[in-house]
Amino acid sequence: MAKELLKFITCGSVDDGKSTLIGHMLYDAKLLFTDQEQSLKLDSMVGSADGNIDYSLLLDGLMAEREQGITIDVAYRYFSTEKRSFIVADTPGHEEYTRNMAVGASFAQLAILLIDATKGVVVQTRRHLRICALMGIKHYIFAVNKMDLVNYDEARFHEIEEQLSHETADMDCELAMAIPVSATIGDNINAPSTNMPWYKGNTLLATLEDVDISPRADVDGFLMSVQRVCRPNRTFRGFQGEIATGHIHVGDEVTSLPSGETAKVSEILISDKNADEALAGNPVTVTLDREIDVSRGCVLSRNISVDSGREFLAELLWMDEVKLVRGRNYYLKLATQTLPAVISDIRYKIDVNTGDHIQSDEVEKNELAVCGVSVGERALFSTFSAMPELGSFILIDRVTNATAACGIILKAERNKRNLSWQQVDIDRQMREESLGQKARTIWFTGLSGSGKSAIGNALEKRLHSMGMHTMLLDGDNVRMGLNRDLSFSEADRAENIRRIAEVARLLNEAGIIVITTFISPLRIDRHNARIIIGDSYSEVYVNTPLAVCEQRDVKGLYKRARAGEIEFFTGINSPYEIPRNADVTVETVESSIEENVDKIMEMLKL
Ligand code: ADX
Repeated sequence: MAKELLKFITCGSVDDGKSTLIGHMLYDAKLLFTDQEQSLKLDSMVGSADGNIDYSLLLDGLMAEREQGITIDVAYRYFSTEKRSFIVADTPGHEEYTRNMAVGASFAQLAILLIDATKGVVVQTRRHLRICALMGIKHYIFAVNKMDLVNYDEARFHEIEEQLSHETADMDCELAMAIPVSATIGDNINAPSTNMPWYKGNTLLATLEDVDISPRADVDGFLMSVQRVCRPNRTFRGFQGEIATGHIHVGDEVTSLPSGETAKVSEILISDKNADEALAGNPVTVTLDREIDVSRGCVLSRNISVDSGREFLAELLWMDEVKLVRGRNYYLKLATQTLPAVISDIRYKIDVNTGDHIQSDEVEKNELAVCGVSVGERALFSTFSAMPELGSFILIDRVTNATAACGIILKAERNKRNLSWQQVDIDRQMREESLGQKARTIWFTGLSGSGKSAIGNALEKRLHSMGMHTMLLDGDNVRMGLNRDLSFSEADRAENIRRIAEVARLLNEAGIIVITTFISPLRIDRHNARIIIGDSYSEVYVNTPLAVCEQRDVKGLYKRARAGEIEFFTGINSPYEIPRNADVTVETVESSIEENVDKIMEMLKL
C-alpha cells in the first residue's frame, strides 16, 4: 500500500535556521542519496571555513540563494521514511517574499514555524501564522530552535510556549505544539536530545510521521467543483474533478449548481477504473442517470449548502506592488470558477502584530485587509470555515496576470443591495441608429498641461462640424461637479477615473461620442476604464515631456508643486505611467493641434 503523504511548509524569519533544520532531518535520517551527501560535503568545505557540514546548503534550490545566503523562492523537496512520504516547501523568511510563502502555504497541510529561542515570538511569527491560517492550515508545529544558545533552558522554552499559546488562542487549530530543538546540533530533530532530558515529547520527525491529517471524508455529504466535462462519444458524458469534501456512492442523488437540477450517480471512475464509491481527495469522473445542466465551473453536491451570489466579505492578503484601492477590476479564481470581480469597499486593515483594525482606503503589498468583494456574475461559494475549498480564492491582475491577492470568504452579503439588471426595449444600437453614428469614447491621457484639453476641444469641434453628437468630459470641470468630493490621493484618483468611465459608458449607451481629458496617470486605472467602457474605448496619449509642461505651466501649478505647496502633483511628487498600448500617441512640441486632430481622426476611422 502506498504510504500516506504529508505536505508541509517551513516558515521562519531570516536566520532562524529553517534550511538547516530540514537539511539535518534529511541527513540524519539517511534520506539522502550518497552522491548528494558527497557533494554536500564537498560543497560545504568550499563554503565554510571550519569544514563542518553546512546543512542549509542541502535545501538551496537556487543559485541566487547561495549567492545571497537567503531563500528567495519556494523550494520543494520530496523525501520518505518507513512510515510516511513527505513533500516540504521551504519558504522564504524575508517580508518582501510573503507572496511565495502564501503560495507554499496554500499547498500545505501542516506548517513548521521556526522560533529563535533567543528571540521568542516576533512580528514575522505572527505574520506567518496569519498567512498560514488564511491559507487554511490547521496543524502547526513550533520548532523552538537554537536551544543550545539558551543553554537548553527549560524555563525559556516554557516561556515561549506560553507566548505561542497566547497567539493561537483565537485560531481554529487542530494541532499547535512546540518542540525544543537545535537545528545545527540536531537536538530533537530525529533523535531525542540528551541535552534536554526534561523534554518528554516526540522529536520533530516522529511528530511529522505520526500526525493525523485525515481527509474530510467523514463529512456526511459531497462536494465537487467540475473541472472538465468529458465527452469522448455521443453516449458518454462524464464530469471530472477532485472531490473537495465528503464521499459519493453510485446511486446517490446529487444537485448541480447553479441550476439546482438533480440526478442520480450512475457511474464513478477513479483513474479509468470503475468504483462504487469515491472519497475526498480522489480525482474522479462521474456520470449521471439523466441529462442536466452541468458545465465547467459548476458544482455537484449532496447535503452541503453552497451560497450563490454576487457579493461577499473576505479577508485578503494583498501581494501586488500596485496598491489595493476600491473600484478596480480583477479576475477572481475560486475553485474552478474564474469571474470578473471588484473590491467594492475596504472595511479595515489588520495590524499583523496586534490584530488591531485600522481604517484606510488603501492597502499596500503584504498587508491584510477585510474587504467587500462584488463579483460580475453569480458565483458559487461558501464561507471558509464551512468549506475551505469553496471559501478561498485568489485575485488576478487583469493587466499583468500576476496574483494580486489571496483571500478567504468570511460571509455572504446578500441583503446589502437587492439589485438585478433591468432589461429595456430601446437599446444602444437603436439609439446610435437614430443619431446616425457609432458611439465611441476617446480617452486622452497625459501630464497636467500636456495639451489634453486643447486637443480634446479641437477634436470635439471637428466632430461637431461633421454633424456628430459629442460630449467632452474635462478634468477640472468634472472635479468641480460630479467629483467635487475627490482629492488627488491614489484611491481618489482611481475613483475619479472609475466614475468618469461609468459616465462615458452611459453616454455611449445613449449613442454619444465621448471625449475625456483626464491625467489618468496609472495604467491599472486606465485599464479599468477600458474594461468598463468596453470595445468603444480608444486611448490617446499626449506625449509632452515633463520639462515642457513645466515650462509652459499654464495654470502656475508646477511652480507651486515645486515649492512644496501641492500634495501628490503628477510628475513632481506623484507618478505618471506612460501608456504601453495607446491607440495613438501625439506630441505637442513639433506638431500643431490641427495636425494632432488629423492623426486622431485617422485612427478613429469614422
Ligand atoms: S487625475 O489624475 O485624477 O486624472 P484630473 O485630470 O482629474 O487628474 O485632474 C487634473 C487637474 O487637476 C490638473 O490639470 C490640475 O489643473 C488640477 N490639479 C490639482 N491638484 C493636482 C495634483 N495634485 N495633481 C495633478 N493635477 C492637479
